[in-house]
Amino acid sequence: MAPPQRSLTAPIKQHVERAIEELMASLPDPHGLSSDEQRGIIARYAAVLEGNFIYWMTAAHLAVASGEARAIIEDNLREEVRDNHPGMLRRFVIAARALPTDTDALAVGRNLEHVRRFVGELDPVRIVVMMAFFEGFITRFMPYLADLAARRGSVEMEYTDVHGVVDVVHTEGLFRALQAEMLRAPAAPEPARELAGVEVLRTLLEIVVDSDALVVPQAA
Ligand SMILES: [Fe+2]
Repeated sequence: MAPPQRSLTAPIKQHVERAIEELMASLPDPHGLSSDEQRGIIARYAAVLEGNFIYWMTAAHLAVASGEARAIIEDNLREEVRDNHPGMLRRFVIAARALPTDTDALAVGRNLEHVRRFVGELDPVRIVVMMAFFEGFITRFMPYLADLAARRGSVEMEYTDVHGVVDVVHTEGLFRALQAEMLRAPAAPEPARELAGVEVLRTLLEIVVDSDALVVPQAA
């Protein structure tokens, strides 16, 4: 007989929700940002998301073992590819005159590399937890990102409109995938271990939303 389902993912979900709340609470007040600082946040967000989201979700797909988790993640990937979400983000960024520059790429470079190395470990539970955090954050972040773009004169909001809605469903799906993977895990979950990906991604997102983000000259 299957063990009670709620208890497996509930403590991790609480940690993930708290991490999202803390990140949202740290966002600088858009009123106080210069136009360059507004541009920087949009550009660093694009530098992280456009080329990496599908790659990291693909890593989650490669890592998971249960048929249920694989199917949930595959649906997510299919939607990303079929609806051309990277293209949607690019249109959003161009309309906001916030295409990433070399400076933006370097500002996130070192922490982006840390996430890539973490993802490369292909640990099923830890990657799914990280992606649930990512989707949950993206959903919450969309109104703020749209506001920054509007302040820069843009009216192109398809990306933020779509992601404020679909990622709610995706986040819930990823917690179901997590449940399926945790039921297969031989050992009892240890929240500190399972949250390692949340911490490494959170550090990267803190640089994205840091209006004082500085260039880090070497990607080490
Ligand atoms: Fe997307």
